[in-house]
Amino acid sequence: MARVLVAGGAGGVGEGIVRHLLRAGHFVVVPSRSQAKLGLIRERLALDVPLGDGTIERLTTLVARVGEPDGAEALCAQLERAGGVDVAIASIGGWWEGPLLEMAAAQWDAVMDEMLRAHFIFARTFVPMLQRRGSGRYIGIGGGAAYFPIPFAAPVSIAGAAQLMLTRALRAEVTDPAIDILELVIDGPVRTRNSEGATPGWIELDEIGPIVVELVETGVTHDLRAETEGSIVTMRSLATRELPGHHG
Ligand SMILES: NC(=O)c1ccc[n+]([C@@H]2O[C@H](COP(=O)([O-])OP(=O)(O)OC[C@H]3O[C@@H](n4cnc5c(N)ncnc54)[C@H](OP(=O)(O)O)[C@@H]3O)[C@@H](O)[C@H]2O)c1
Repeated sequence: MARVLVAGGAGGVGEGIVRHLLRAGHFVVVPSRSQAKLGLIRERLALDVPLGDGTIERLTTLVARVGEPDGAEALCAQLERAGGVDVAIASIGGWWEGPLLEMAAAQWDAVMDEMLRAHFIFARTFVPMLQRRGSGRYIGIGGGAAYFPIPFAAPVSIAGAAQLMLTRALRAEVTDPAIDILELVIDGPVRTRNSEGATPGWIELDEIGPIVVELVETGVTHDLRAETEGSIVTMRSLATRELPGHHG
């Protein structure tokens, strides 16, 4: 069983990832800046993972600021003292809406800090931790906004596109075959606890979870929703994915 650190595990998508990793028997560490969010996630997971068989006991929650250098280093040192982790997942995200040309410079800085810098700081801290261990897997989680502009939420697309390049650049620089660098791009809106106005075409957490479990365990996925190109795995909803032999 793997020891998996899920940054953003207290978020909407992260919650589904954590649930599936626990169900698959893995040990999961979830950091959050918010004790209240950690309490909420514990309560929600305890409702549907069986209690008493050790499942929820495999979850560790910690208050930490993984998007800040000091916070990430402190968490890393704490985890290394306890034996480290095998896989680091960055399900870090955010949202901003408004006309791009009316965005204040300070807003730009804040959004890029929240969505992009946090991925960089997390990777800069935890990929070296995997290197010190001699093996491991780093998995970024991103959105399909990286591939096309979302009018009036453009910074989300801009940060997403840069995050994709961060993953590709890491893969190009970290050439040790024992260190796997991957990104799962979820190409469509996801129905999470935070979703408003979700429609049947939205991707379900139960579609994402098994793909992440496969990536954690093997570094590849054979799921029909997913296409892999180098270090980037893109998953689409089965409702929109054109399956082989299906052109309807
Ligand atoms: N929701 C969707 O419809 C959707 C669709 C496609 C792809 N995705 C992708 O899924 C990923 C997660 O999105 P989500 O919808 O789960 O977002 P979310 O519910 O807002 O959760 C985001 C998580 O990111 C963490 N985070 C954000 N900024 C951070 C920072 N500066 N430092 C440390 N942690 C930070 C938050 O941690 P705290 O607990 O500390 O607040 C939070 O748990 C993103 O990469 C997003 O692109 C989402």
